[in-house]
Amino acid sequence: MFYQLPPVGHQIGCRSQAASPQGVAGYFASDCYFFNSGAASLATAVLATVQQTGLKDPEVLLPAYACPELVSAVLWAGARPVLVDFAVDRPWMALDEISKKLTPRTCAIIAVSLFGIPERIGEIKALLSGREIYLIEDSAQAFPEKTSMEVLQSDLKIYSFGRGKPVSVLGGGAVVVEHGALSDRIAHIHHEAARSDSRPWLRRLKIALYNRLISPRLYWLPNSVPFIQLGATVYKPLQKIEKMGEFEMGLLAQNIERYWSRGEEIQELLMAGIAASECKKVMDLAAVSCKERQPRLLRYPLLAKSPAVRDELCDKLNREGIGASRMYPAILPKVRDMVAVFDHSDEAPNAAAFSQRILTLPVHSGVTKEVVNKMLKIVL
Ligand SMILES: Cc1ncc(COP(=O)(O)O)c(C=O)c1O
Repeated sequence: MFYQLPPVGHQIGCRSQAASPQGVAGYFASDCYFFNSGAASLATAVLATVQQTGLKDPEVLLPAYACPELVSAVLWAGARPVLVDFAVDRPWMALDEISKKLTPRTCAIIAVSLFGIPERIGEIKALLSGREIYLIEDSAQAFPEKTSMEVLQSDLKIYSFGRGKPVSVLGGGAVVVEHGALSDRIAHIHHEAARSDSRPWLRRLKIALYNRLISPRLYWLPNSVPFIQLGATVYKPLQKIEKMGEFEMGLLAQNIERYWSRGEEIQELLMAGIAASECKKVMDLAAVSCKERQPRLLRYPLLAKSPAVRDELCDKLNREGIGASRMYPAILPKVRDMVAVFDHSDEAPNAAAFSQRILTLPVHSGVTKEVVNKMLKIVL
C-alpha cells in the first residue's frame, strides 16, 4: 500500500529561465497552433474540417474504444461522432469498418496512436483518396522522435501536453497542419480565442507537487483518496477553447528535449523478456502491431487471453505496487454519461473484447530494472 508506481508520468522540467514561446514553434516543421488542452486542439482541428467541407450535419469517424475527450471535441465542433470497431486484437480501427461507415456527410476521421502505437495513416488515407475527407491524427499519447518531426502524413495532427502525456507541462495542446486553407481556418480560430490565464507561480507549484506525488513512496496517497479519481474515465463536455498560456509554452522546449534524451531501456527489457518466454497468457500488442520499428511507448500494452486473466494479472501487479492499468473501462457508448450520445446500434464487438482484456505496464523513468524483473515474473 505504501509503495505504488503511477501507470504513466515522467518528471516535468520547470526551469525558471524557460525558452521563449516563439522558440517552441521552431520544433514543428509545419504550421503549429497551441491551445489550452489536447481536447481543445482536437475540437479546433475538427471544426476546421467542418468549415472547410461546408457539410450540413457533418459526421466524424473515430475508434469505438478511445478516451471520451474525442467525443467532447467532435460535439463541440458541431459534428456527429460515428464509431468504428477495432480490428481483431489490434489497437486500431478495422479498415473495412471505416469504409462501411463513410457517408457523403463524413468530413473527417480521427486516427489515434493508442499507447504510442501509430495508426496506419497511409492505409486510411488510401481509403479516402479522391474524397474531401480529412484525416486527423490524434497523437496525444505519442510524440515523434527528433528525426521525424518533419513528417506530417495526415492532414492535421494534434498533441496533448497534459498530465501523463509523453511531453507534459500539465496542460496544453497543439494542432500541426501544412500551410494552406485548413491552416488559415485554424489560425482564425486561434486568433479569436482568449489567452489562458498563465500564473507562473501556480504552474510551478503544481509541477513541483506533481513531481513529488508521482514518486512511488507518495503516489499511493492521492491514489487512495476516492474523490481525487486519478486516471478515472469520465465524459465531460468541452468547456472552452483558449490559446495555451505563454508560461506553459515557454516550458515546452525543455520538456521536448527531455523526452528525446530519455532512454528506452525499460521498454526494450520488457519486450525482450516477453519475447524470450513461451507465455500464452498475454499478447505483446506493440510487438505484433509494429513489425518494423518499435515506437517509443507511453505505456506497455498487453492483451490478455481472457478478461479473467487480465483482472487477475492487474490485481497481482498492483498488490506489488506496480502501476498496471486497465485503461478505459469500456467502449465509448458504455462510458458513464455517454449513453445519450450514442444509440444501441453502435455495437463494436472487437473493441469491446479489447477493452475487457487490455492491461498496460508502466515504462516511465520511475521504473527500474528490478521492477521489470518483478513484472515479468508475475506476467509470464
Ligand atoms: C488519445 C487522446 N486524445 C485526446 C486527449 C485529450 O487531451 P487533454 O487531456 O490534453 O485534453 C487524450 C487525453 O488523455 C487522449 O488520450
